Amino acid sequence: MLFDFIFRQLRPLIFSGDAETAHERMLTIVESISKFPGLIPLLRRQFMEEHSVLRTQLFGRSLQNPIGLAAGFDKDGRIHPALFALGFGFVEIGTVTPYPQAGNPRPRLFRLPEDEALINRLGFNNHGASEMAELLVSTLKRFIPKDTDIIELNSNLTANIASGMLGINIGKNKDTLLEKASDDYVSCLSMLHPYADYFTLNISSPNTEDLRNLQEKDALRVLLDSVCACRDKLDQNHSRKTPLLVKLSPDLDETALGSSIRVMKEFFNSRSDSRQHDCETSGTEKQTAKRKRRPERKTAAETQHGNDKKCFSEIRNRNADYRCGWDFQWSRCI
Ligand SMILES: Cc1cc2nc3c(=O)[nH]c(=O)nc-3n(C[C@H](O)[C@H](O)[C@H](O)COP(=O)(O)O)c2cc1C
Repeated sequence: MLFDFIFRQLRPLIFSGDAETAHERMLTIVESISKFPGLIPLLRRQFMEEHSVLRTQLFGRSLQNPIGLAAGFDKDGRIHPALFALGFGFVEIGTVTPYPQAGNPRPRLFRLPEDEALINRLGFNNHGASEMAELLVSTLKRFIPKDTDIIELNSNLTANIASGMLGINIGKNKDTLLEKASDDYVSCLSMLHPYADYFTLNISSPNTEDLRNLQEKDALRVLLDSVCACRDKLDQNHSRKTPLLVKLSPDLDETALGSSIRVMKEFFNSRSDSRQHDCETSGTEKQTAKRKRRPERKTAAETQHGNDKKCFSEIRNRNADYRCGWDFQWSRCI
């Protein structure tokens, strides 16, 4: 009740001006107030729902509920403790790139109230992986006992903040040549490996020129090879198992989607280590720079059904778990 009241009072302020300014204001307010001692536990008490029906298993972890927040809301990882406290089962921060970048020129975020939709042309505006790492360390320090070596905590870092999972969505800088794209993903992974419960390779955004070409089979193979090799090495050094997800575009036609899936399947099959037993597939959501509005959901749902039958049956038979939301963009854990 109290929070509803506060939100109603702040809403006109938050929603005045353009959409991006409103979003930034919200981030600043939540970031500032969540530093008040005791506020995060208070939010948690207020909003966290615990029920056995909601309990969800994901990548060998138990989540309080299956509702997560997609990438793009908290691009720099500024407010994830508050987001967990508001009840999300998992939160995906990012997309983060190795170096900070400004993104596309403003205005680049447009409200379409009558369609209950947004046009997003942000273009991976973010403060870079190194600043994200610093921020995550300082956030963790607020939640763990003094003198704990964060790197040595190794796994389940977010367990110190919430019982949810923290995903980090990684991408490439605008200026990085496509042929060098893998280096950017490897670089983000190396800088942020200790802080994420899973990583998502974003190759779906239409707002970075040519990024979606990474979904093509040869480029995808190179990307998977480099990123998985790096992840395996880091995991070995830190005795962890970090799931990797690949975020594909919902706009891929059936042939292209089938081809990307085949590459991932072949890659998955070629790996003989014990990780295979931990792997799952999952569907997430749709991202598009075009009008993101209700009518697209039908297309998305249709795509989901068509591909469900054709492409995913084999994966399902491999004892993998496949989920899909209304909007469609599917990710595979490797
Ligand atoms: C304003 C905005 C910014 C986004 N930024 C990112 C991003 O940085 N990285 C990413 O992978 N997805 C990004 N997305 C896509 C979302 O993660 C999600 O896939 C998409 O909004 C579909 O989910 P929804 O139907 O629940 O909104 C963004 C979406 C919006 C609306």
